[in-house]
Amino acid sequence: MKKRVAILISGGGSNMVALARDMDASHPAKAVLVLSNNPNAGGLAKATNMGIATAMVDHRPYKGDRAGFESDLHAALLKANPDIICLAGFMRILTPNFIEKWRGRMLNIHPSILPLFTGLHTHQRALDAGMVIHGCSVHQVTAELDGGPILGQAVIPVLAGDTADDLAKRLLPMEHRLYPAVLRKFADNDDMKVSLFS
Ligand code: GRF
Repeated sequence: MKKRVAILISGGGSNMVALARDMDASHPAKAVLVLSNNPNAGGLAKATNMGIATAMVDHRPYKGDRAGFESDLHAALLKANPDIICLAGFMRILTPNFIEKWRGRMLNIHPSILPLFTGLHTHQRALDAGMVIHGCSVHQVTAELDGGPILGQAVIPVLAGDTADDLAKRLLPMEHRLYPAVLRKFADNDDMKVSLFS
Protein backbone atom coordinates (compact mmCIF):
# COMPACT_ATOMS: atom_id res chain seq x y z
CA MET A 1 0.00 0.00 0.00
CA LYS A 2 1.25 3.48 -0.83
CA LYS A 3 2.64 5.62 1.98
CA ARG A 4 0.69 8.80 2.64
CA VAL A 5 2.62 12.07 2.38
CA ALA A 6 1.67 15.47 3.82
CA ILE A 7 3.64 18.46 2.51
CA LEU A 8 4.02 21.61 4.62
CA ILE A 9 4.61 24.89 2.78
CA SER A 10 4.69 28.62 3.47
CA GLY A 11 5.18 30.12 0.00
CA GLY A 12 5.22 29.39 -3.69
CA GLY A 13 5.47 25.67 -3.20
CA SER A 14 7.72 24.84 -6.15
CA ASN A 15 9.34 22.02 -4.17
CA MET A 16 5.88 20.77 -3.22
CA VAL A 17 4.91 20.69 -6.91
CA ALA A 18 8.11 18.78 -7.77
CA LEU A 19 7.34 16.22 -5.05
CA ALA A 20 3.67 15.87 -6.00
CA ARG A 21 4.45 15.52 -9.74
CA ASP A 22 6.91 12.75 -9.01
CA MET A 23 4.33 10.74 -7.07
CA ASP A 24 2.97 8.90 -10.11
CA ALA A 25 1.45 5.42 -10.27
CA SER A 26 4.86 3.75 -9.86
CA HIS A 27 5.75 5.75 -6.75
CA PRO A 28 5.72 4.12 -3.31
CA ALA A 29 3.87 7.15 -1.87
CA LYS A 30 1.09 9.57 -2.68
CA ALA A 31 0.41 13.18 -1.66
CA VAL A 32 -2.64 13.31 0.61
CA LEU A 33 -2.39 16.85 1.99
CA VAL A 34 -0.69 20.19 1.39
CA LEU A 35 -0.82 22.31 4.52
CA SER A 36 0.26 25.94 4.87
CA ASN A 37 0.69 28.30 7.81
CA ASN A 38 0.24 31.19 5.40
CA PRO A 39 -3.20 31.85 3.86
CA ASN A 40 -1.51 33.65 0.94
CA ALA A 41 0.86 30.81 0.07
CA GLY A 42 0.78 30.45 -3.73
CA GLY A 43 1.34 26.73 -3.33
CA LEU A 44 -2.18 26.17 -1.97
CA ALA A 45 -3.81 26.96 -5.34
CA LYS A 46 -1.19 24.86 -7.12
CA ALA A 47 -2.04 21.89 -4.88
CA THR A 48 -5.76 22.33 -5.51
CA ASN A 49 -5.10 22.41 -9.26
CA MET A 50 -3.24 19.13 -8.90
CA GLY A 51 -6.20 17.60 -7.08
CA ILE A 52 -4.49 17.45 -3.67
CA ALA A 53 -6.44 18.29 -0.50
CA THR A 54 -5.26 21.45 1.26
CA ALA A 55 -5.46 22.81 4.78
CA MET A 56 -4.36 26.05 6.38
CA VAL A 57 -3.38 26.75 9.97
CA ASP A 58 -2.57 30.46 10.07
CA HIS A 59 0.12 30.99 12.71
CA ARG A 60 -0.68 34.67 13.28
CA PRO A 61 -3.62 34.36 15.70
CA TYR A 62 -1.37 32.23 17.93
CA LYS A 63 1.13 34.98 18.70
CA GLY A 64 2.92 33.98 21.92
CA ASP A 65 1.21 30.57 21.89
CA ARG A 66 3.47 28.27 19.90
CA ALA A 67 2.09 25.23 21.71
CA GLY A 68 -1.44 26.15 20.62
CA PHE A 69 -0.33 26.59 17.00
CA GLU A 70 1.49 23.27 16.98
CA SER A 71 -1.40 21.48 18.61
CA ASP A 72 -3.76 22.65 15.84
CA LEU A 73 -1.13 21.90 13.18
CA HIS A 74 -0.80 18.40 14.59
CA ALA A 75 -4.59 17.93 14.61
CA ALA A 76 -4.85 19.06 10.96
CA LEU A 77 -2.12 16.62 10.00
CA LEU A 78 -3.68 13.73 11.90
CA LYS A 79 -6.91 14.13 9.90
CA ALA A 80 -4.91 13.20 6.78
CA ASN A 81 -3.25 10.26 8.55
CA PRO A 82 0.18 10.75 6.91
CA ASP A 83 3.05 8.28 7.12
CA ILE A 84 5.60 10.88 6.01
CA ILE A 85 5.74 14.65 6.39
CA CYS A 86 7.79 16.73 3.96
CA LEU A 87 8.67 20.27 4.97
CA ALA A 88 9.05 22.18 1.70
CA GLY A 89 9.79 25.84 2.31
CA PHE A 90 7.86 25.73 5.61
CA MET A 91 9.08 28.84 7.38
CA ARG A 92 8.08 28.16 11.00
CA ILE A 93 10.45 26.78 13.58
CA LEU A 94 8.98 23.63 15.10
CA THR A 95 9.55 22.76 18.75
CA PRO A 96 11.09 19.49 19.95
CA ASN A 97 7.68 18.56 21.36
CA PHE A 98 6.08 18.64 17.89
CA ILE A 99 9.07 17.08 16.14
CA GLU A 100 9.06 14.17 18.59
CA LYS A 101 5.50 13.28 17.52
CA TRP A 102 6.74 12.63 13.96
CA ARG A 103 10.16 11.25 14.79
CA GLY A 104 11.75 9.36 11.91
CA ARG A 105 8.93 10.39 9.57
CA MET A 106 9.66 14.05 8.80
CA LEU A 107 11.97 15.36 6.06
CA ASN A 108 13.16 18.87 5.18
CA ILE A 109 15.00 20.49 2.30
CA HIS A 110 17.55 23.12 3.22
CA PRO A 111 19.37 25.33 0.69
CA SER A 112 22.94 24.69 1.76
CA ILE A 113 25.49 21.90 1.93
CA LEU A 114 24.77 20.93 5.52
CA PRO A 115 26.19 21.05 8.10
CA LEU A 116 27.32 24.39 6.67
CA PHE A 117 24.97 27.35 6.88
CA THR A 118 22.05 26.17 8.98
CA GLY A 119 19.27 28.73 9.37
CA LEU A 120 18.54 31.63 7.02
CA HIS A 121 20.35 33.62 4.27
CA THR A 122 22.29 30.58 3.14
CA HIS A 123 23.16 31.86 -0.35
CA GLN A 124 24.68 35.10 0.90
CA ARG A 125 26.53 33.26 3.65
CA ALA A 126 28.02 30.81 1.12
CA LEU A 127 29.24 33.80 -0.93
CA ASP A 128 30.59 35.58 2.15
CA ALA A 129 32.50 32.44 3.12
CA GLY A 130 34.17 32.33 -0.31
CA MET A 131 32.64 28.97 -1.21
CA VAL A 132 33.25 27.77 -4.76
CA ILE A 133 30.46 25.22 -4.51
CA HIS A 134 27.00 25.59 -3.03
CA GLY A 135 24.08 23.24 -2.75
CA CYS A 136 21.07 21.86 -0.95
CA SER A 137 20.44 19.02 1.45
CA VAL A 138 17.47 16.83 2.33
CA HIS A 139 17.62 15.62 5.90
CA GLN A 140 15.50 14.04 8.56
CA VAL A 141 14.07 16.57 10.98
CA THR A 142 15.29 16.34 14.55
CA ALA A 143 15.13 18.79 17.44
CA GLU A 144 18.39 20.36 16.25
CA LEU A 145 17.71 23.07 13.61
CA ASP A 146 18.73 21.74 10.15
CA GLY A 147 20.74 19.13 12.05
CA GLY A 148 19.12 15.72 11.42
CA PRO A 149 20.68 12.87 9.42
CA ILE A 150 21.43 13.90 5.83
CA LEU A 151 19.68 11.73 3.21
CA GLY A 152 20.84 13.47 0.04
CA GLN A 153 22.72 16.48 -1.30
CA ALA A 154 23.02 18.33 -4.60
CA VAL A 155 25.80 20.74 -5.49
CA ILE A 156 26.26 23.57 -7.98
CA PRO A 157 29.33 25.69 -8.76
CA VAL A 158 29.57 29.26 -7.50
CA LEU A 159 30.46 31.35 -10.57
CA ALA A 160 32.39 34.61 -10.69
CA GLY A 161 30.05 37.53 -10.07
CA ASP A 162 27.24 35.36 -8.63
CA THR A 163 24.83 37.17 -6.31
CA ALA A 164 22.71 35.48 -3.64
CA ASP A 165 19.76 35.70 -6.05
CA ASP A 166 21.76 34.05 -8.84
CA LEU A 167 22.64 31.18 -6.52
CA ALA A 168 19.05 30.80 -5.31
CA LYS A 169 17.79 30.68 -8.91
CA ARG A 170 20.39 28.16 -10.05
CA LEU A 171 19.93 25.98 -6.98
CA LEU A 172 16.14 25.69 -7.12
CA PRO A 173 16.04 23.28 -10.10
CA MET A 174 18.50 21.06 -8.22
CA GLU A 175 16.20 21.13 -5.17
CA HIS A 176 13.41 20.00 -7.49
CA ARG A 177 15.49 16.99 -8.55
CA LEU A 178 16.92 16.14 -5.15
CA TYR A 179 13.83 16.16 -2.95
CA PRO A 180 11.76 13.77 -5.11
CA ALA A 181 14.76 11.45 -5.52
CA VAL A 182 15.20 11.28 -1.74
CA LEU A 183 11.49 10.89 -1.02
CA ARG A 184 11.24 7.92 -3.40
CA LYS A 185 14.01 6.12 -1.55
CA PHE A 186 12.73 7.12 1.90
CA ALA A 187 9.21 5.88 1.10
CA ASP A 188 10.75 2.63 -0.14
CA ASN A 189 12.79 2.18 3.07
CA ASP A 190 15.91 2.39 0.88
CA ASP A 191 18.63 4.04 2.95
CA MET A 192 21.01 4.64 0.03
CA LYS A 193 21.97 8.34 0.03
CA VAL A 194 21.40 10.55 -3.02
CA SER A 195 24.13 12.78 -4.48
CA LEU A 196 23.53 15.05 -7.47
CA PHE A 197 25.94 17.29 -9.39
CA SER A 198 24.85 19.99 -11.81
C1 GRF B 1 13.53 26.65 -1.15
O1 GRF B 1 14.73 27.30 -1.51
C2 GRF B 1 13.80 25.81 0.07
O2 GRF B 1 15.05 25.20 0.06
C3 GRF B 1 13.75 26.88 1.12
O3 GRF B 1 12.65 27.69 0.76
C4 GRF B 1 12.50 27.64 -0.64
C5 GRF B 1 11.10 27.20 -0.91
O4 GRF B 1 10.69 27.42 -2.20
N1 GRF B 1 13.72 26.34 2.43
P1 GRF B 1 9.31 26.79 -2.69
O5 GRF B 1 8.20 27.31 -1.79
O6 GRF B 1 9.43 25.30 -2.64
O7 GRF B 1 9.15 27.31 -4.10
